[in-house]
Amino acid sequence: MSIIKNDFEKMNITKIKKFKNNKKLTMITAYDALFAKLFEDIADIILVGDSLNMSFAGKPDTLSATLDQMIYHTNAVCAGAKDAFVVLDMPFGTYNNKDQAIENAVKVYAQTNAAAIKIEGGEDRAEIIEHLTKNSIAVMGHIGLMPQFVRSEGGYKVRGKNKEDEDQLIKDALAVEKAGAFCIVVEGVMSDVAKKITQAVKIPVIGIGAGNVTDGQVLVWSDMLGFFEEFKPKFVRHYLDGASLVKDAVNQYRTDVQSGDFPSNQEEY
Ligand code: KIV
Repeated sequence: MSIIKNDFEKMNITKIKKFKNNKKLTMITAYDALFAKLFEDIADIILVGDSLNMSFAGKPDTLSATLDQMIYHTNAVCAGAKDAFVVLDMPFGTYNNKDQAIENAVKVYAQTNAAAIKIEGGEDRAEIIEHLTKNSIAVMGHIGLMPQFVRSEGGYKVRGKNKEDEDQLIKDALAVEKAGAFCIVVEGVMSDVAKKITQAVKIPVIGIGAGNVTDGQVLVWSDMLGFFEEFKPKFVRHYLDGASLVKDAVNQYRTDVQSGDFPSNQEEY
């Protein structure tokens, strides 16, 4: 039986769950129709991450992203990638309790074609996740280093460096699974601990900065295509030197404009 996105069947949560112990999941972020269309036939899942607040809006962290902004970008992504499995990342402060979470998740389903939402939090958010999944919302969990906690934690800290934290992370993963999430993002976790988390749950674990023993990987598109020049986190691999390519091309354009080479006879009416 084929569960492979490259065959180009539309993904759903049943197919995604079947990747566990079978084939690695590839997830990538997208924030607009143009890039979503490029990724759609390749990635298994497209995440409209609240990382857009940093890489798209230029803010210092993800915390000021709003639900309306996430809905706007998700609609753009869904318009570009009509057959993709698109996940909307619920922004900070939109799922603090069960009532608020369900109200906002229903708004997402009503106003976009997102297939699922993503929620940061482990044991402490399990009740909220359970309330959502019991009310027919597909939830992707997110544990480990959770960017929405950057201010309260005083920075981005790699998790799982001691036994106590390892035990907590495993409890988090089990609680998120029990609450009905169909898969979990595990971010910024020591790879041996990410391995134990992956083995502890029956749903796919998608890692970022968590080694390669997870059931899949996710990267932010602008990081992996080399557009983010400020710094390169250890876990990012550059598959393109996007920033240099774009700058070289725009420089060439300016040179051609200044020299009168552009537009040529063939490029005019
Ligand atoms: O916001 C985002 O892009 C994310 C991924 C890094 C998992 O949450």
